[in-house]
Amino acid sequence: MVTYVEADVAPSRNTGQIRLYGAEAFSGMRKACDLTARALDELVGMVQPGMPTADIDRFIFEFGMDHGAIPATLNYRGYTKSSCTSINHVVCHGIPDEKPLRDGDIVNIDVTYILDGWHGDSSRMYPVGTIKRAAERLLEVTHECLMRGIDAVKPGARTGAIGAAIQSYAEAQRCSVVRDFCGHGVGALFHDAPNILHYGSPQEGVEMREGMIFTIEPMINLGRPQVKVLSDGWTAVTRDRSLSAQYEHTVGVTKDGCEIFTLSPAGLDRPGLPPT
Ligand code: MF3
Ligand code: CO
Ligand code: CO
Repeated sequence: MVTYVEADVAPSRNTGQIRLYGAEAFSGMRKACDLTARALDELVGMVQPGMPTADIDRFIFEFGMDHGAIPATLNYRGYTKSSCTSINHVVCHGIPDEKPLRDGDIVNIDVTYILDGWHGDSSRMYPVGTIKRAAERLLEVTHECLMRGIDAVKPGARTGAIGAAIQSYAEAQRCSVVRDFCGHGVGALFHDAPNILHYGSPQEGVEMREGMIFTIEPMINLGRPQVKVLSDGWTAVTRDRSLSAQYEHTVGVTKDGCEIFTLSPAGLDRPGLPPT
């Protein structure tokens, strides 16, 4: 049985109960998520052939510090970077390093800032130089998956409706949905209940209620859905080495739908793709 708890009185660890946040939390999340979105906006000009992902990671650290925020991934379960940078067939949790990005790469940059105790978690895909049409199509499909998932968020519906919307669109486009990683409750904690699956059916999952805050972050592959984690313990790649993409927003459930906290103030939610 799933239970819900007012966030103000909830224990400070993940107990499996679902936190329901109030107006003050929503305003804190707006600020943390806006900072994350502005950092992702700043990256648009920086992501170029020749740029090492470690430089991007240093920027994310500095930008956070300059604005009173700390990257949530820093020292998280032994992770030592301020962001994840996942290139081409890397599905997620790519570790920034000194290797330069190359023309034609696609890279996901995933940032979570903690500002005044609130976690703002978002990621976008960045084309490096000129990318192939197949890669561009994967980015378009994956962003559309995220937005269709978000459209399924409303009180009374189950979280499975999000997964169903994403899976049906991805598979209709002859792409596949990664099963091994999911979205998550977020807010006062980085990773909290419930899990948000990116596949499934509308009858599955937990009922969404006003005040819930969680991420939706589908990972979509051009090939098969299977992944493996490399020996560094983090980097997840597609087993068939096909291209993988991901976009992530943090959303809060409202009376009649949801608020997207991590929308780009500059309209750069899909860097390098034609405007929708
Ligand atoms: N930001 C990722 C997410 O979307 C989590 C990264 S955890 C790390 O949930 F340790 F790999 F950085
Ligand atoms: Co993230
Ligand atoms: Co997340």
